[in-house]
Amino acid sequence: MAELSVVIVATDNEQRAVLQVLVDGTSVARTVHTCASFPVAASDAVTRRVRTANPDVTLVDIPADNPTLALRAIELLHQEMPEAAIFAIGNLNQPQVIVNAMRAGAREFIERPTTTTDLLEAFVRLTTAQRRTRQEGIRGKVFLVINAKGGNGATTVAVNLALALHSSAGQTALVDLAPLGHAALHMNLKPIFNVADATRNLHRMDASLLESFMTRHSGGLQLLAGTNVPTTAEPSTAEFVRLFDMLVTHFRYVVVDGSSRFDAVSRLIASLSETVLLVACSDVASLWSAARVQQYLSEAGSRDRVRLVLNRFRKVPGFSEGDAETAVGAKLLWRIPNQYFAVSGAIDRGSPVMDQRNSEMARCFAGLSQELTRNDTDVKRGTWSLFKSV
Ligand SMILES: Nc1ncnc2c1ncn2[C@@H]1O[C@H](COP(=O)(O)OP(=O)(O)OP(=O)(O)O)[C@@H](O)[C@H]1O
Ligand SMILES: [Mg+2]
Repeated sequence: MAELSVVIVATDNEQRAVLQVLVDGTSVARTVHTCASFPVAASDAVTRRVRTANPDVTLVDIPADNPTLALRAIELLHQEMPEAAIFAIGNLNQPQVIVNAMRAGAREFIERPTTTTDLLEAFVRLTTAQRRTRQEGIRGKVFLVINAKGGNGATTVAVNLALALHSSAGQTALVDLAPLGHAALHMNLKPIFNVADATRNLHRMDASLLESFMTRHSGGLQLLAGTNVPTTAEPSTAEFVRLFDMLVTHFRYVVVDGSSRFDAVSRLIASLSETVLLVACSDVASLWSAARVQQYLSEAGSRDRVRLVLNRFRKVPGFSEGDAETAVGAKLLWRIPNQYFAVSGAIDRGSPVMDQRNSEMARCFAGLSQELTRNDTDVKRGTWSLFKSV
């Protein structure tokens, strides 16, 4: 592994010195410059010095008592040098700081007190991901599917969208983060491992271990199954960030079933997503809830990513799609027809509607997949190829 050059930005003198010793101790990276203050503008001297040092990685230490300047520095450095990776160092018990650091552009969030092993693992992950990105082009896209209200259809949309994406583009993963995971049932799969096993083993995760935690559907779609017991002890947000970093390195599309999960994790995944699909029915209670969910995600900066998916859609006299958009505060992405017997029968049999070729529902999800991949090159177009197994 080629040696990585590292710049350390830390206002605390002792922490700056410790980080330098730790970085140099990994023997895969070398400190080329240290800064005792945070850059505040593109033109200031600190930014200029970091730019001149041209690092592969910038470590930004986030003080627990006053994270604002550090977070602004991450955003600025990410904008000014998008090709350099930023690793944030901070406390794992400040989830909002973790989320803000990742949204500002940090690639890793490393716990303080930091060890040489933590840094070494992060450096190895970076070079592995870069090698893969160089070989295969770009990182994958994440689509988070959540419901406005329990039972509005998030799992149905997530499962069938993932199958449609896999059918047209391959290399798709479905990750079940619902409070109680139903995706495996929808696909008649019996997973041995689930997302909790993956997050527990992140410290030693590589492509083959990740694959061993996933369950393959007959067409090739890989499912990282959800929990089968309602859990209270959740992995930390930083662990989810690492998991998703690994997923987007290995898959072209990552569909996440969030269903009714509304917490720091779902806000984080929303901020990592290309598009958040907010699935709602057209009744008053669902639209009211959809507006609340949109507000909840907006507070974490994801407003513009959220698109409305109207499920069990039927025309209601006197109520237009524009009215639904206004009520929720999100643009309409797709409409899914109301087909109770087709959908509930498919769930009961564990044979998703997407597998019922040429049915109205399969065409609907194929269309949704095409809409979401409109600007992606190499994705197969046309209905003939959409139903082919990859
Ligand atoms: N387009 C549709 N037409 C008719 N019925 C549907 C449609 N989509 C979903 N359903 C029905 O709604 C029920 C709930 O769907 P689903 O489990 O996908 O929702 P969810 O939002 O994931 O729910 P949960 O809150 O339990 O996670 C299913 O039993 C299914 O039969
Ligand atoms: Mg669900």
